[in-house]
Amino acid sequence: MNAIALPESWREHAIVTRDVAIARDWFTDAELAEADAFRLPKRREEWMHARMAAKQLAVNRGLASHPREVLVTRVRFSLSHSHPYAAAAIGRGIDVQVIREISESAAHLFLSDEEAEAMRACSVEHRLLHFWCAKEAAWKAQRGEVPTLKQVPLKLIDIQPHGLRFDGVETLWTAAAAAVQRDVIIALTF
Ligand SMILES: CC(C)(COP(=O)(O)OP(=O)(O)OC[C@H]1O[C@@H](n2cnc3c(N)ncnc32)[C@H](O)[C@@H]1OP(=O)(O)O)[C@@H](O)C(=O)NCCC(=O)NCCS
Repeated sequence: MNAIALPESWREHAIVTRDVAIARDWFTDAELAEADAFRLPKRREEWMHARMAAKQLAVNRGLASHPREVLVTRVRFSLSHSHPYAAAAIGRGIDVQVIREISESAAHLFLSDEEAEAMRACSVEHRLLHFWCAKEAAWKAQRGEVPTLKQVPLKLIDIQPHGLRFDGVETLWTAAAAAVQRDVIIALTF
């Protein structure tokens, strides 16, 4: 599987994959029926890619000997997809965002005034995407118990060489993790 190199401290909890070929034999009949019920091929693929990542993570951790034995539920895994990337985490919240231009005028949709101020004071490229990615991961870690992203608190602690460290969640851009391309931001809660 084409997995992105992650920092040592992340590897036990998370996996991020890129451009993975779908392996239908990794899925049970019930899972295949669920996947095949999606009308849009893109939606079916992202659903399968995220679950393949989760299954691989479980196998890497010795929780199963074959990916088909791993049943992926939201209780056990946090999942994310942003084409061509997919990600899964166990016991943490995860999010991936392919790097793209997003307007900072959208910040008020999911950041509080204080968070938006901290974002604007932050000198890293694609800073809003880091904040967004971090919020999504934190939101998922809370299993969606908080109704909106805006209500998930996010406090910037530190700007690090490889990403941002918030209170409870870190972001990473992959070039720093020796990946092939610097085109994705990954957030993982801790
Ligand atoms: C649901 C949400 C997290 C999806 O985020 P996204 O970046 O579009 O998509 P991702 O691929 O990263 O994540 C999708 C995965 O999140 C997971 N997910 C969805 N709801 C979840 C929940 N309540 N708890 C934990 N994980 C959840 C699912 O596994 C889903 O993958 P699947 O559809 O293949 O099963 C997003 O819609 C959201 O932000 N919700 C918060 C509500 C909010 O404030 N929305 C306004 C945003 S401005």
